[in-house]
Order: sequence, then structure tokens, then C-alpha cells
Amino acid sequence: MNVNRNILTLDEFTIQSVRQFPHATGELSSLLRDIGLAAKRINVEVNKAGLVDILGDHGTTNIQGEEVKKLDIFANNQFMGVLQRGVSCAGIASEELDDFVAFDDDISKNSKYVCLFDPLDGSGNIDVNVSIGTIFGIYRRVSERGTIARKEDFLQKGHAQVAAGYIVYGSSTMLVYATRRSVNGFTLDPSVGEFCLSHPNIQCPDSGNIYSVNHGHFFRYSEGVRKYINVCQNKTKETGGPYTQRYIGSMVSDVHRNLIKGGIFMYPGTTDKPKGKLRLLYECNPFAFITEVAGGRATNGSTSILDIEPTELHQRTPFFVGSSKMMDELEACMASVE
Ligand code: AHG
Ligand code: MN
Ligand code: MN
Ligand code: MN
Repeated sequence: MNVNRNILTLDEFTIQSVRQFPHATGELSSLLRDIGLAAKRINVEVNKAGLVDILGDHGTTNIQGEEVKKLDIFANNQFMGVLQRGVSCAGIASEELDDFVAFDDDISKNSKYVCLFDPLDGSGNIDVNVSIGTIFGIYRRVSERGTIARKEDFLQKGHAQVAAGYIVYGSSTMLVYATRRSVNGFTLDPSVGEFCLSHPNIQCPDSGNIYSVNHGHFFRYSEGVRKYINVCQNKTKETGGPYTQRYIGSMVSDVHRNLIKGGIFMYPGTTDKPKGKLRLLYECNPFAFITEVAGGRATNGSTSILDIEPTELHQRTPFFVGSSKMMDELEACMASVE
């Protein structure tokens, strides 16, 4: 039998990374390990969906006015519980919670990081067995260690992230995370229950031929966005086309695919919702960070996502992310009509 010991587990990989930095305390690796544990627990539930009473609506709406699914709550509680019991996280903020939660036990008060997450992304797809995900961003707290975390710890610019990542519960389950140095992907090996390094040093191709947008909103987008969509539709062999339109409706899966293959994902503002749908802190900042470390770009149409100063936890923003040359062409279209 061929046993491949060249494959690193997530824990082995993070420990090796710490060893390259003599001053590192290992707190970030321990936080990533906690996140990996929460992901495995959520994965088990997601895989059973349909067999146990986990599908369907929870019967409530969240602070953003969305219907909450049972799995949204389960995933949120798994993440919160694991991070609270761990030793690296001083507090969390989540799409599914009205306000941030500062952990007030002694270990948490002395922890270095806060974590912001979308516990289940694409929850509209749960009931129909389509890939869903989890998204997280990690920041060094700005408040003093030894005290409980404060709101300013959570309202930091995306540039301040020390790490960000996502989990895709897809045909296989993958955890991808970025630090400032690199983006690495790990696939869950169900036989041993470990995330194993499968996609080292992910680079986003500088161009691609996939564009992802909800065409149902086409006539409510700005003229610049519509112009770019027309450009995508009219690509020929000579201009780098033809392009393919792909939109799963789970941003984790859509952006993951485009990150690997090259492409652009857009969730623009509309005439009725000028800020679009996606949340800056839980969805856009982590993906902007991951994509930029991988060589791509992310903006709200005019400003880099990572430069936006957040003013509230649940704020929304138009979001454009992907391969750098495709982002350039989008911005040229937007600038040409404004
Ligand atoms: P969530 O399930 O966390 O609320 O986010 C869903 C988001 C995102 O995953 C996806 O890209 C988008 O909603 C799809 O929205 P539309 O159906 O409006 O296109
Ligand atoms: Mn939601
Ligand atoms: Mn989401
Ligand atoms: Mn969600």
C-alpha cells in the first residue's frame, strides 16, 4: 500500500509555519485548529442533512431581515462554542448574532485575536443539496489584553486581518486560509478526519473566462456594471473569450472556483438596494484578503474593499472580486460611464 507521508495535515502545516518565526506564540495556529474542529463538526451535520431534522427554517429572522435556517444556528453555535473554549480568541462577531460577543473568562480576556464569521454561507442552498460554506476573518485585537474585547476590535479595516479563510462543504470538504504570506488549501480526508494540504500556495490567475453575477437583477444594476456584463457576453476568441457564466448562489463556492480557475465574481448594488447584499465584515473582507494575497483584487466598484473603514458590524457593500485583469476591465467600464 502506498502511504504518502509527504501530505501535511492542517495542524502540521501551521506548526511548521510557526517554526519559521521564532517570536511566534502559536496562538494563531491554535485558533486555526479550533476553526478546523468547528468545520469538521459542521461538515458532519451538513452531510446528514436530509436524514435528520436539520433541514428547513428555524422560524426566525436575523438582524439583517433574512430567514434563518436551522443549520445557520447550528453552525453559528459550533463556531462560537469552539472559539470560546479555545485559548486564542477574545470574542466573536457573526452574521447570525445581533451584536458581537466578548468572552469574559480569564483565558479569553488574555487572548490576542477576535474572529468574525459567516457561519453558513449560501444557506438558501441547504435544502437542495448544493454546496455551502463558512467564511472567517481574524484580527489582532486593538484593546488591551487582560480586558474584555470591545467593539473597536471588530470594526477594523480588512487590511488589518492577520488571516482569513473559508470552508466549502462541496463534493469534498475544503478549508482554505490565507495569512499575509500565502494562501493554502486543505481537503478533508474523511477516513482520518483531518484536513490535509492539497492546494499549496494558491495563486489567482491574472485572467480567466468565468464571470459570476445574478443576471436576474440585470436591469437594476448601474450602467457601468451592465456595460461590463455586455463585454463579458461579447468576448470572442480574439479578445480572450468566449466567457462562461457560472453562478451557484453560494458565494464561497463561486469565489473558490474563480480563485482556482481565474474569473470574476460580482454582487453589485441595485436600484432598490444600493449597497447590495453581502456583508463587509463577514463575507467581503475575508474574500478580499484571500484574493489579494493570491494576486487578485477586490473593490466596491471604486475603493479597495480592504481600505473601507467599517462603521457598523452588519454593514453591506457592493462587491467585485477576482482576477486582476478582469477587475481592470470592469473598472474601466464603470469609469467610462460615470
Ligand atoms: P448567506 O447565506 O450567508 O446569507 O449569504 C448568501 C449570499 C451569498 O452566498 C450569495 O452569493 C448570495 O447570497 C446570493 O444571493 P442572490 O440569491 O441574491 O444572488
Ligand atoms: Mn444569511
Ligand atoms: Mn453569506
Ligand atoms: Mn450566512
